[in-house]
Amino acid sequence: MISRYYSPTRVVFGKGAEEEVGKELVLEGARKVLIHYGGSSAEKSGLLDRVRTSLKEKNIPFVELGGVKPNPRLGLVREGIELSKKEEVNYILAVGGGSVIDSAKAIGYGLYNGGEVWDFYDGTRKPYGSTPIGVILTLSATGSELSDSSVITNEEGNLKRGCNSDFCRPRFALLNPELTYTVPKFQTEVGTIDIMMHTIERFFHSGEGLDFTDRLACTLIKDVMEKGLRVLEEPEDYDARASLMWASSLSHNGLMALGNDQRGDWACHQLEHELSGMFDIAHGEGLAIIFPAWSTYVYKEDPDRFAKMGHLVFGIEEKGEEGARNTIEAFKECFRKFEMPLSLKEAGIELSDEQLEELLDKATFYGKRTLGAFKTLEREDMKEIYLLAK
Ligand code: NZQ
Ligand code: ZN
Repeated sequence: MISRYYSPTRVVFGKGAEEEVGKELVLEGARKVLIHYGGSSAEKSGLLDRVRTSLKEKNIPFVELGGVKPNPRLGLVREGIELSKKEEVNYILAVGGGSVIDSAKAIGYGLYNGGEVWDFYDGTRKPYGSTPIGVILTLSATGSELSDSSVITNEEGNLKRGCNSDFCRPRFALLNPELTYTVPKFQTEVGTIDIMMHTIERFFHSGEGLDFTDRLACTLIKDVMEKGLRVLEEPEDYDARASLMWASSLSHNGLMALGNDQRGDWACHQLEHELSGMFDIAHGEGLAIIFPAWSTYVYKEDPDRFAKMGHLVFGIEEKGEEGARNTIEAFKECFRKFEMPLSLKEAGIELSDEQLEELLDKATFYGKRTLGAFKTLEREDMKEIYLLAK
């Protein structure tokens, strides 16, 4: 078995990293930039003003498009593509968290490839390139700053779909952990769960494995758990914020899969995307609901795999099924510490039979796909997991 690792993003890390933006864009040959951002946080903190100043100092023309919402919408992506065409933009700068970066990636696909951008998300077409993207990250969570993935919600039908290709990996990422001091408690909590889950999903693969990568993965999960709890107590703890930021990038850039069957499992993410698409809950919240249900349903496939993670992350000594069950309980306890709901009901969602069927239709692409690798999930399996999550 071979695995590939490709992480072309130039990372500038540390206090003041965002001040490098003008220099980076000159290096990239940016002629006209679209600055893309979210609601109000980057404006309020003064970050956007610093970015504008940096570009002006380097004589780089730019236009702006703000308003990206969490679970970014296709409508704004289309607006961004039209604006960029009109303004002859050749570079996109995302200033924000995963939603802003993903929206920027979608604009990049649309601008470069032409045609209907949703085609890349519903799988009817594959992109053959992207307008280049640079990132100033303000929230540690998705790892989109280094990942090959972008997730967009189509308002028509509330369909949340991802598109994966190396073309959308950002060209550079400016990572200043201090920019995350203002992230609200809830976003820090859901972000921490997301970072952990990107490594967990890779750990539960179905092929051969590399012990070194398993140990690296479990060190990341343990550290993220500890540092996540620390910043809830002390939001301006630089070391903890810095650890979370770098872990967010490394958890989802492929490093945690090298030597393992790198496809990972990803059923929790796919089942979650349908939840946040339909109910507009935070991605990390949905993951905290789905992972215990999924684990309970699948652990008998290979209890020792669960026990290994439990040992390396929580120091659990039992092996086999007992070790696996203790591991699942330890994760639930951990998610509780991050004040996550562990069921749909706890998230305020009373799932009706009709909604369950709709989730299953969407999760199976209307009967066209199974999910997972650790255990392959058919529609009936997915149903059991959603019911366990109820
Ligand atoms: O919009 P503003 O005002 O900027 O507020 C945002 C937003 O409300 C706020 N925020 C961000 N940085 C802040 C801040 N508030 C104060 N101070 C700061 N420094 O946080 C809120 C949430 O932002 P969002 O970008 O939505 O969060 P996140 O980074 O968790 O992104 C979630 C999205 O990414 C997708 C998720 O599905 C979801 O749509 N994912 C993307 C992945 C990828 N591209 O690789 C992988 C993930 O698995 C995930 O699916
Ligand atoms: Zn995720």
